[in-house]
Amino acid sequence: MLLCKTVAEMHTACRTLRNAEHTLGFVPTMGALHAGHLSLVAAARAQNDAVVASIFVNPMQFGPNEDYEAYPRDYDEDYRKLESSGVHVLFAPSTEEMFPPGNTAYVEAGELGSRLDGASRPGHFRGVATIVARLFHIVQPDRAYFGQKDAAQVAVLRRIVRDLNIPVQLEVCPIVRENDGLALSSRNRYLSQDERRRALILTHALASVEELAKQGETKTRVLRAAMIKTFAGDSHVRMDYAAVVDPESLLPVDDICGGALVAVAVFIGSTRLIDNLLLAPIR
Ligand code: PAJ
Repeated sequence: MLLCKTVAEMHTACRTLRNAEHTLGFVPTMGALHAGHLSLVAAARAQNDAVVASIFVNPMQFGPNEDYEAYPRDYDEDYRKLESSGVHVLFAPSTEEMFPPGNTAYVEAGELGSRLDGASRPGHFRGVATIVARLFHIVQPDRAYFGQKDAAQVAVLRRIVRDLNIPVQLEVCPIVRENDGLALSSRNRYLSQDERRRALILTHALASVEELAKQGETKTRVLRAAMIKTFAGDSHVRMDYAAVVDPESLLPVDDICGGALVAVAVFIGSTRLIDNLLLAPIR
């Protein structure tokens, strides 16, 4: 695996791969890698000649009172995982490399970027859109791989890629979960044993919606009420949102007949966790 720390090194490495007629699959991450990240690498390997991954904890997508400083950083272990997963090039830039002094060009995520996580984390998706657009310009991949785990991020990035005419195919991979159903997340490391147990409330809330939908319930009002009731059952859990929205616009829908994204976010202690369920249109 070739390690590049500068944009110039990346340009050279990616140009060499493209000149050899290799298709490039790209997996952007913030490190602290788990099996969810590695599932994206596996998908990228299966569909491309070469795989590029990046590790960059992007300060721009963290709010002033969020966990940027505390965010888990485990570079040596991440390096080993990516190398043994068959990644060809790893881009691990410094903050100055990605945000040189005086940099002025940003990518706005617009109204879309102020929905779901964007509502509770102002500026978050502007940070995500800006860094991902910069990474796309550096790597110029044929395909880029993202997890359905961050459903709002997927919606924002689809729109950015379309609006900026970035010639990349976005591939969205399913949520990888622990055996008991908890979605893998770098932030799960923050949880105490007790909080880890309580975190299953996300899974339970989504399961309650799935069950109701299976029984034929279609009204958002009823489905949301079930999730809110689940969260109210644990006083240590603070609900951020429980939403039933259109997966592309992230706007609320009245019913799930046309398909819907059921998305939840809660605070367990000071840790914010998200999860979601995609419901197919009812035929
Ligand atoms: P990060 O949280 O490190 O996640 C990197 C990628 O892994 C994202 O596309 C995310 O959706 C995916 N992922 C995380 N947990 C997953 C799981 N349990 N199953 C499947 N995929 C999972 O998302 C980011 O970083 C950043 O916002 C980034 C896109 C790198 C921009 O800074």
